[in-house]
Amino acid sequence: MGRRPFIIDCDTGTDDAIAIMAALYCDQVEIKAITSVNGNVAHKYTSQNNLDLLEYLGFDDIPVAKGADRPMLGNFFHADGTHGSTGLGSITLPKARKKTFDDQIASELIYRIAKEEKGELELLVIGPMTNIAICLLEHPDLKDLVKHIWFMGGAVIGGNVTTTAEFNIWVDPLAAHIVTQSGIPQTMVGLDVTTAAAMKEEHSARIRACGTKAGTLCADLLDYMFIRRDQGGEDALMHDAMAFAAAVYPECLECKDYYVDVEYTGEYTKGHTAVDRRGKLGRPANMSVALKVDEDRFCSWLMDAVRKSAG
Ligand code: RIB
Ligand code: CA
Repeated sequence: MGRRPFIIDCDTGTDDAIAIMAALYCDQVEIKAITSVNGNVAHKYTSQNNLDLLEYLGFDDIPVAKGADRPMLGNFFHADGTHGSTGLGSITLPKARKKTFDDQIASELIYRIAKEEKGELELLVIGPMTNIAICLLEHPDLKDLVKHIWFMGGAVIGGNVTTTAEFNIWVDPLAAHIVTQSGIPQTMVGLDVTTAAAMKEEHSARIRACGTKAGTLCADLLDYMFIRRDQGGEDALMHDAMAFAAAVYPECLECKDYYVDVEYTGEYTKGHTAVDRRGKLGRPANMSVALKVDEDRFCSWLMDAVRKSAG
């Protein structure tokens, strides 16, 4: 079986960057494009981070496209406190000098590649879902062209922005509603599992020891997260890399199929992923939901995934 074609749609951010590196060196997949969306930080940073990251790591042939710089309907809010003012923590990558943004916007590039891949394309969606929703509205046949969406977002219980909503979904709940109801097969990797596995200093040290640019960058990002953690901020949680793990290392997760929809109105519930665990709504399951993670297996897998940059 050949490499699985993927597009990564992201709001690069610290954990997005680590997920992208895990995917770039994975021999199971072929990254066909990276598309950016407003999220962790303003779109001008998330898009530039993608361009800089790919040139820095030498992936000159992978197209990088700009996407939505604001949500369809939602909250224009950035997580500078978690990801730093430009999205990569305390790290500044060299500005891309050769690589330029693709001529097409994210939603059009996604559609073009989906047609080219004839139904085999998979999407790793690790930021707000605005680009995917726009693509579905512009090109309804996308739902027949995407094999699977692996997304980081939501939670069966709780939230990290409000008591009931996770950031990616909360930023653009209407987009998330459109995507989750699209009929495209999908897997939800939410806070229930992404907050149950944190990288540690020993992982960072072993990643750094591989001696590659990716290994050093990943270790620097992790070290930024350890400082953030020790100052009372978020732990070194690999939200986005875990969504990729669901696609290529599902053994580290326990998932169940449920019907899920997204609340895009409501004073206290906007952005809530309503996971119908008891079948109360009487609707067929529309996705697989990750419920448990084996922390040791996931963290070891991620460490090895980035160390693959050493060949
Ligand atoms: O809630 C965590 C998610 O929000 C992650 O994708 C992180 O990168 C931010 O986008
Ligand atoms: Ca993200």
